Amino acid sequence: MILRARVLGCGSYLPSRIVTNDALAQRVDTSDAWIVQRTGIRQRHVAAEGEHTSDLAEAAAREALERAGVKPAELDLIVLATATPDNTFPATATKVQARLGMTGGFAFDLQAVCTGFVYATAVANNFLIAGQARTALVIGAETFSRILDWEDRATCVLFGDGAGAMVLRAEPGTGTVADRGVLSTHLHSDGRDYTKLYVDGGPSTTRTTGVLRMEGREVFRSAVNRLAEVVAEALAANRLDPDQIDWLVPHQANRRIIEATAKKLNLSPDRVIMTVDRHANTSAASIPLALAEGVRDGRIRDGQLVLMEAMGGGFTWGSALVRM
Ligand code: ACO
Repeated sequence: MILRARVLGCGSYLPSRIVTNDALAQRVDTSDAWIVQRTGIRQRHVAAEGEHTSDLAEAAAREALERAGVKPAELDLIVLATATPDNTFPATATKVQARLGMTGGFAFDLQAVCTGFVYATAVANNFLIAGQARTALVIGAETFSRILDWEDRATCVLFGDGAGAMVLRAEPGTGTVADRGVLSTHLHSDGRDYTKLYVDGGPSTTRTTGVLRMEGREVFRSAVNRLAEVVAEALAANRLDPDQIDWLVPHQANRRIIEATAKKLNLSPDRVIMTVDRHANTSAASIPLALAEGVRDGRIRDGQLVLMEAMGGGFTWGSALVRM
């Protein structure tokens, strides 16, 4: 029997504090016009003091569980994608597990930076279709505000905090693209680009957390090429034409990167979920935040084909094709 990981519900959470481009322009030498023109970002949410990645993750998870009609006790797996865990160890996922009141199963963090949610979806999917778990909670949660150099205008304007979550359950399928659930995942990494986008600290190197460093132009160039490749790979693997994709739910790094990918797919902008203007880049949280928004406002409907894609530090990149 073929199993498919069906999406039962989505949720998200954004900290209440909003920081506009104009507010940033009072701290560093930048302007609303520069940020909007280069990135499409107008504002970002920033976690309050004392508000941690686990808090954001828990709030998103609770909404996803409620919308799915699933009780925490029914979960047997949590995969939490984050590059900004509460502590170096244990996994933030175990804190969320305890807070949800889930005492069985297993929970762990996964680190693929901005590609984290795609990686986490792939990993959870594999456990579900292998029959090693039945119901999984996949979370992307980040507090990038804590690892930014707030003096560096080239990076501090790009990121925000937030979380998104999705409940998956293994159910019988037929093995065709008509099935509902995760239809394919494709993951890639190339560690030769390790220092093009990284945090300059860590427990084993500096004993400090460090701050984000990036070769922006290089990241941009790689993102446009690799995202086009990974989208083509997903379509070919499922023998689909671009016009069969109902929604592109891309990682939200930069409006220009998203528009370039949509153009290559020949997808009109009204079939792309875009949140980067309001959320900025929330790393592993950006796709599930966008997905939850599209589902909540009724744009993404049951039975539709959703293609998620992302690229991030490592470099890592990948896609997940899902029929809702
Ligand atoms: N405000 C004003 N000027 C700025 C700012 C700012 N916030 N940041 C940089 N500049 C200046 C630079 O100092 C430089 O000035 P100079 O010419 O006097 O030296 C000038 O703008 C051009 O800098 P570039 O870095 O070449 O600008 P670019 O057009 O490449 O845009 C950007 C920079 C927006 C970062 C772009 O490269 C980009 O979007 N890259 C992708 C980065 C990204 O999305 N990373 C997220 C993580 S990876 C991912 O999620 C895909």
